[in-house]
Amino acid sequence: MADRADYVWMDGKIVPWAEAKVHVSADTVLRGGNIFEGMRAYWSEAERELYIFRNAEHLKRLRQSAKIMRMSIAYSDAQLTAGFIELLRKNRFTEGVHFRPVVYFGEGEAYGFKPEEVHNGVFVLAYSRPHAKSITTGIHSCTSTWRRNSDVSSPSRLKAAANYHNSRLATVEARLNGFGVPIMLNDRGEVAESPGSCFMMVRDGVLVTPPVTADILESITRATLIQLARDELGLQVLERDIDRSEVYIADEAFFCGSGAEVLPIVSVDHYPVGEGKVGPLTKAIQDLYFRVAKGGVPKYRHWLTPVYGEAGAAAAAAQ
Ligand SMILES: Cc1ncc(COP(=O)(O)O)c(C=O)c1O
Repeated sequence: MADRADYVWMDGKIVPWAEAKVHVSADTVLRGGNIFEGMRAYWSEAERELYIFRNAEHLKRLRQSAKIMRMSIAYSDAQLTAGFIELLRKNRFTEGVHFRPVVYFGEGEAYGFKPEEVHNGVFVLAYSRPHAKSITTGIHSCTSTWRRNSDVSSPSRLKAAANYHNSRLATVEARLNGFGVPIMLNDRGEVAESPGSCFMMVRDGVLVTPPVTADILESITRATLIQLARDELGLQVLERDIDRSEVYIADEAFFCGSGAEVLPIVSVDHYPVGEGKVGPLTKAIQDLYFRVAKGGVPKYRHWLTPVYGEAGAAAAAAQ
């Protein structure tokens, strides 16, 4: 199967990829007027089942983004979940999937600034997305010269497409300079996050990550790892500001996110992180994360929504 799926879910219907269209005059095209979620489903070979990871938490965040945007969503959580399941089944995925529900402003009032006078709709795109090779090798990061969007201008906690213009500037700059995913500082000069994932580091055995008030997305993976690190690995976790120079003397560092998963950082601005290779706690956290996401840890099975089993439909109805 190509990276992209054959079908798209669009306003309650499954349509072939080529027919999933919005008009060029739509606000989502002209001004990036949409909110979205980036979600994963993991394939369990042992159970021959595909599991959506933390569906309820993603839907909750989608509604929070909609609230900030004063945007309504015409579908209930149960309807959206049923749509995700229908789409993943229709595309017959039997490997890792990344999918993106998007709530977009369409056509209506000129300039699109009156939410009640602008049509809005929902579509869901899915892509086959196996693990990236770099989650094993780690990446060489840098500090971006671009600052992360500030809460007083374009809140980073809002998962809106328009925020990703800022991400794009930072990503392209890092690539042109020969680096992988960059670290972005916020307006106060503290570490915020990457263009598409959150940042964590280990110092003296303590897991440290910027707080949710550091101009970051309130990441579901970040919350997941904080819980797993504390409850399963017995680690102390601190949510506090991180200075740029602290990153240079960290023992370990990694990015985390639904898309990025747990992505080790082996150097930043040419300073090796720790010994310049994937750190042992990073590896332990990564292993645990994948075991949980693929259904291997019974205690956390309530985070998973099955796609193919009978239970898939029932779980959708219950949400
Ligand atoms: C800017 C940004 N920060 C952080 C994250 C991580 O969030 P989550 O763990 O909910 O996927 C993402 C998305 O993956 C993101 O786009």
